[in-house]
Amino acid sequence: MTVLTGAEVFVDGELKKLDIALEEDKICALGRNLEGEEHVDCSGKLILPGVIDVHVHVRDLKQSHKEDWESLGRAAIAGGVTTVFAMPNTDPPLDTVERVHDYRRRAQAAKINAKIYGAITSENYKDLENLASHVDAFKLYLGETTGHLIVSEKRLHREIFKIVTETEKILTVHAQRGGDPKDVTRHEVDDICYVLDLAAAYETKLHIAHVTTQRAVETILEAKKSKLDVSFETCPHYLYFTAKDRERHGAWLKMNPPLATEDDREFLWWALAEGLIDIVATDHAPHTVEEKSVGYEKAPAGVPGVEFLLPLLFDAVNADRLSLARLVEVCCTNPARRFGLSHKGEIAVGQDADLVVVDPDRKQAITREAVQSKCGWSPYEGLTLRGWPVMVFVLGRPLP
Ligand code: DOR
Ligand code: ZN
Repeated sequence: MTVLTGAEVFVDGELKKLDIALEEDKICALGRNLEGEEHVDCSGKLILPGVIDVHVHVRDLKQSHKEDWESLGRAAIAGGVTTVFAMPNTDPPLDTVERVHDYRRRAQAAKINAKIYGAITSENYKDLENLASHVDAFKLYLGETTGHLIVSEKRLHREIFKIVTETEKILTVHAQRGGDPKDVTRHEVDDICYVLDLAAAYETKLHIAHVTTQRAVETILEAKKSKLDVSFETCPHYLYFTAKDRERHGAWLKMNPPLATEDDREFLWWALAEGLIDIVATDHAPHTVEEKSVGYEKAPAGVPGVEFLLPLLFDAVNADRLSLARLVEVCCTNPARRFGLSHKGEIAVGQDADLVVVDPDRKQAITREAVQSKCGWSPYEGLTLRGWPVMVFVLGRPLP
């Protein structure tokens, strides 16, 4: 048995000075002066549930030059992320049982918990019932982006919502059509209303990916007042950057959906602090420095983020922009609840021993040299943040 001593532990919504005892992959005791063969001194640190990032593009396969499971695992561990949900717009896409199995096998190289999204395409949608027992959730693209998995026919959308509802899996939707950044942002609400209507018609468990604007958030909150089973996420880049930053940094801040206005950004912080946002996920979308260096039009969309989600939000906690309780809610508890991980997302006896040890006062700048993701850069380079993860436990195993 391993005992973590001396830390303040986030339990039942607050920090408490407690020891945590780990037995194999579980938390087996919480208390004072716990006995154990091995002690890990965590004095001066906080211990939080491991972060669950529900939106990560791991790549691997034919795009392992951008990222593979091993490099993704390093980046996640550095960022306090112990579970990721991997997106299926890989090359080739995760649209068959065989490909999903192969991807799951590869994921072991990451040393973290890997959940896998199944892709929905115009070709495989009739077979989703079969695929359902092999995947952790489904992803539908209503907009064009990396991987070209867009499904455009409205008739198919109805069929897909109906079939996925029967599988009882979460349906995560990329609900923004592509195009000029200004138009995409303007259309966000229309596209979200469209999927909310479908979810209402079929009683689907809907999750809306990467929400960027005030109006979109307000639209979803309004829909939640009726019986709809809907959740949504925003991403750290929408909290830190706006379209103005994109004008200055070009392709480095090109992503789908694109950055919105300063008012939207401010609203997202406010909504986050108020507990109106369900989940913050990174949409970690690694593309290499070379791929991003070819000008805005030609460069692929997406920015990496998995290793900085926790520091970016913890810095906001230190700045009194956000409470620690909200951080844990949007990064740990809510992702676990929404995506059915009943043994994760909180620190309690019997829960999985997925933990992150945070040094709340460590001040560190984000530099390109220190980036762990294979893509080799970060949109947050140059930022100095206070509060960094120093180690994680994944199912009881200390890392790195
Ligand atoms: O910017 C993005 N990049 N948005 C997406 O939806 C996909 C992602 C990627 O896979 O590169
Ligand atoms: Zn994505």
